[in-house]
Amino acid sequence: MSRNIILIGFMGTGKSCIGRLLAARLNYHFFDTDVLVERYTKLTIPAIFHKYGEKHFRQLEKEVVARMANKRRSVISTGGGVPLDSENMQRLAQHGVVISLSASADIILSRTLGRNNRPLLKQDKQAVLALMQKRSKFYKNADFIID
Ligand code: S3P
Repeated sequence: MSRNIILIGFMGTGKSCIGRLLAARLNYHFFDTDVLVERYTKLTIPAIFHKYGEKHFRQLEKEVVARMANKRRSVISTGGGVPLDSENMQRLAQHGVVISLSASADIILSRTLGRNNRPLLKQDKQAVLALMQKRSKFYKNADFIID
């Protein structure tokens, strides 16, 4: 019973917050791919996007995910773009149960208001809905979906 728990979902659905609580409850390790990318590069995510662009961020994110493949008894919270890469999901799902978190655009906007740490999140409901729509099939690719 040492399968990892992988949390996926759109920005602001609570992956990091829930992940930390879940890991503490289960006495599992906790990893957050965004935090690992920042620790590895010693840069914030907005700085990585600004200096090197999204493509470079995705490569770093992919390297971090690859290093997660050998973890056990871990809750792994992923950045919102991780499931867009099928190799990422294959690696994570190999030893883990995938839980997709969802939330309405209004809730996401209210939770993220005043925070500018997400370069791809615009404080604009139509933009959030459009990005959600574009990504919805990737977030459905999970063992469980929880609002
Ligand atoms: C992203 C989500 C962010 C972070 C980066 C890109 C995305 O993580 O990885 O800003 O493409 O959805 P959270 O989902 O933890 O906000």
